Amino acid sequence: MISEIAIDGPQKLLGKDGKTEFVIREVTMRDLNAVIEINRKVLPENYPPWFFVEHIEQYPKAFIVAEVGGKVVGYVMSRVEFGWSYVAKGKTAKKGHIVSVGVLPEARRLGIATAMMVRALKALKNYYDATEVYLEVRVSNTPAISLYEKLGFRVVGRIPRYYSDGEDAYIMARPL
Ligand code: COA
Repeated sequence: MISEIAIDGPQKLLGKDGKTEFVIREVTMRDLNAVIEINRKVLPENYPPWFFVEHIEQYPKAFIVAEVGGKVVGYVMSRVEFGWSYVAKGKTAKKGHIVSVGVLPEARRLGIATAMMVRALKALKNYYDATEVYLEVRVSNTPAISLYEKLGFRVVGRIPRYYSDGEDAYIMARPL
């Protein structure tokens, strides 16, 4: 799956059930409402519309959506930051930051998040020159942690009470 993911254009892929086809592609401003709706449905961390707009405008190549039958069912939103490296201690780096990931419940376990993440990681490296990538995840979010581990992320830190309900976050990172 990983080597077959392109970094340009819409790409049609077959889900892990062997029958559901999905398309991954770069976001456009027309996807804004669908992305906001998915975010509100699947995550307690909801951002104002301008925050999504900013990412669509600034990092479109690494903001990936997935469609099934023409309907947007998932997204990965990313940005690029400069700061202290999580993978090479004491050094600075251009870091890809996976800000938000969501897939609608009816489209899960098909490999859609994996495909979108692989594309976003390739884009962060190839278009934005990031040398590593990191994200925050709730310490209780086993499905997401498992997804990220399979993609080569490792826990590099823990932020106490990161989320508004008091839950801690793991910081997970990997080199690109
Ligand atoms: N339980 C355990 N592991 C799970 C899982 C679950 N419910 N869902 C995904 N995974 C792990 C598995 O290791 C899976 O591989 P496998 O199916 O071969 O076992 C791997 O992730 C890849 O799954 P994939 O099909 O690519 O993920 P998905 O498209 O179903 O999306 C999420 C995964 C986490 C994005 C999705 O469940 C979701 O939107 N959750 C709510 C929002 C969220 O938690 N976002 C991440 C916040 S940091």
